[in-house]
Amino acid sequence: MGRVEGKVAFITGAARGQGRSHAVKLASEGADIIALDICEDLPFAHSPHATPEDLQETVRLVEAAGGRIVARKADVRKRDEVDAVIAEGLEAFGKIDVVIANAAAIQYKNVFDLSVEDFEATLDVNLHGVFNTVQTPVRHMIERNEGGSIILISSGIAYKATPAPDYSAAKTALITFARALANELGPNRIRVNTIEPGYVLSPANDNPKYAERTARLLGREPFATPEEHREALWEQLKPRNMLPVGWVEPEAISNAILWLASDESRYVTSEELKVDAGFADK
Ligand SMILES: NC(=O)c1ccc[n+]([C@@H]2O[C@H](COP(=O)([O-])OP(=O)(O)OC[C@H]3O[C@@H](n4cnc5c(N)ncnc54)[C@H](O)[C@@H]3O)[C@@H](O)[C@H]2O)c1
Repeated sequence: MGRVEGKVAFITGAARGQGRSHAVKLASEGADIIALDICEDLPFAHSPHATPEDLQETVRLVEAAGGRIVARKADVRKRDEVDAVIAEGLEAFGKIDVVIANAAAIQYKNVFDLSVEDFEATLDVNLHGVFNTVQTPVRHMIERNEGGSIILISSGIAYKATPAPDYSAAKTALITFARALANELGPNRIRVNTIEPGYVLSPANDNPKYAERTARLLGREPFATPEEHREALWEQLKPRNMLPVGWVEPEAISNAILWLASDESRYVTSEELKVDAGFADK
């Protein structure tokens, strides 16, 4: 019997990285998955986003883990697209027990350089996109009257000054949004929590464009290989954490997701769960 046997989880940004890891982890513990991802690049974002092939690979991995999955290309900024995927998922599986608002996009500009459009673009994905992700499932959960678990993916940099002030602002806002939702939905036995990952090596930062940025920040020549970039990044990041590591792997976040999605955490709501090697408090 899996730890989330028979549950249905709706996950955004599930084509790669942490979102894919969460989908596979939950499927391996008995859940069915409703997944979406934009599967295209956003002009303002620093790194390339996932591709349709990435989403197909998530489908393959979820099915190999024993789960069923409905996976579609959709943009969390567009309510009609999100709702269409939810409707298809409900048609296939009949319910949603768990929501994981994971899709996000980041750019690295300081306040001086951010245009109004840049700022709005970040909030559109990382804040409005989360509202679009949760509202319809919340209405479904209330109507169904079987409770639920909603998990918003914030970030360790919600707590710190960073070179991505717009992104930090959105991620901090998610914490108070989750608290308000948790209060509102408690009587319906719907739990709402956030996870604050520390630095996670994922395609968002393990890519050539990000490697160029790391080399520039370190004032050194471009890296010859991805391995060289990872080694330098690990050493750069390690002093920021309490534990002697540069980053945490996606599966470490998925383990926290699994617990919050399961009934093991049935009395946990309005919690900020840091999985960050001690980043936020150092
Ligand atoms: N990587 C880190 O160091 C780190 C640290 C803290 C928090 N986080 C958060 O963890 C979550 C997962 O990030 P990741 O590291 O897996 O990055 P990632 O870039 O690999 O994954 C994000 C996914 O979201 C998708 N996406 C982007 N905009 C979208 C949109 N408008 N609609 C639908 N999908 C969209 C992308 O295509 C991508 O597949 C994000 O919420 C991120 O902010 C990441």
